[in-house]
Amino acid sequence: MTPLLRQVLSQVDGPDPRLNEIVSALVTHLHAFVEEVRPTEREWIAGLDFLIQTGQMCTPDRNEFILLSDMLGLTTAVDDVNHVGPEGMTPSSVEGPFHSPAPARDLGAWISFGPERDRAVPTVVHGRVLDCDGTPLPGALVDLWQANDTGLYDTQDDTQDAGNLRGLFTADGDGRYWFRTVRPSSYPVPTDGTGGKLLHAIGRHPMRPAHLHYRVAAAGHRPLTTHVFLAGDPYLGSDAAYAVKDELVCHPRPRTGGWDMGGPYEEIEFDLKLVPLDWKDGQ
Ligand code: BEZ
Ligand code: FE
Repeated sequence: MTPLLRQVLSQVDGPDPRLNEIVSALVTHLHAFVEEVRPTEREWIAGLDFLIQTGQMCTPDRNEFILLSDMLGLTTAVDDVNHVGPEGMTPSSVEGPFHSPAPARDLGAWISFGPERDRAVPTVVHGRVLDCDGTPLPGALVDLWQANDTGLYDTQDDTQDAGNLRGLFTADGDGRYWFRTVRPSSYPVPTDGTGGKLLHAIGRHPMRPAHLHYRVAAAGHRPLTTHVFLAGDPYLGSDAAYAVKDELVCHPRPRTGGWDMGGPYEEIEFDLKLVPLDWKDGQ
């Protein structure tokens, strides 16, 4: 440890021990970074300017720092250390910036009301909300949101009505949920801010593989925020938000009959297994 770092650490002595621990670790890692990288003063100021510009991009509707955290894999890393659970649980995955309150809908309802309904592949999504031991969780709340076939959420797109491609469903007595929608497509994360500049500078594409977002809640269980991804998507191995986990990838099945869709469609089946609130590591 350098004398300078020792001096800085010796002065971290606030009333909150956890905050002291976090600040001390952060400062220690940042000093190690400077020792390793030896940035020039010009490079250091450029880094600080980048953070200033990131702050200036933020509004109540857009948080560029969260986007940067997603793009650097940090949101997923924090998620991973906080959502440990029993074998068989559905892994959580980043929420992303596009959640907004969804209209409550009946089981089986369509969630697509825009022109995408005539363009994209009709799709039935269904599954069960279960405890990790397979017990159904009747009455679980399933909050869904997805982009349309051009990769835009209603909140980003004046041509979609509010609530398009969103729905809040209550699972039935067997924990089952089902709804009708269109196949989502892969899309780029917003690239008009510092996040986009960074991706471009380090030679990364901005694409996310096609997905649907879920937030699921059931009494006595940890709430779960996750995605389902579609097998075969070319971006599964290089998601700009590093949110893909093997257990979250499902194979859409081509179908003709069975769900009263009036023509060919795809079926996505995805069960969600929630962790009991009283689950403890090592059980
Ligand atoms: C999303 O899928 O909504 C998303 C997640 C992380 C960053 C940007 C978008
Ligand atoms: Fe998304």
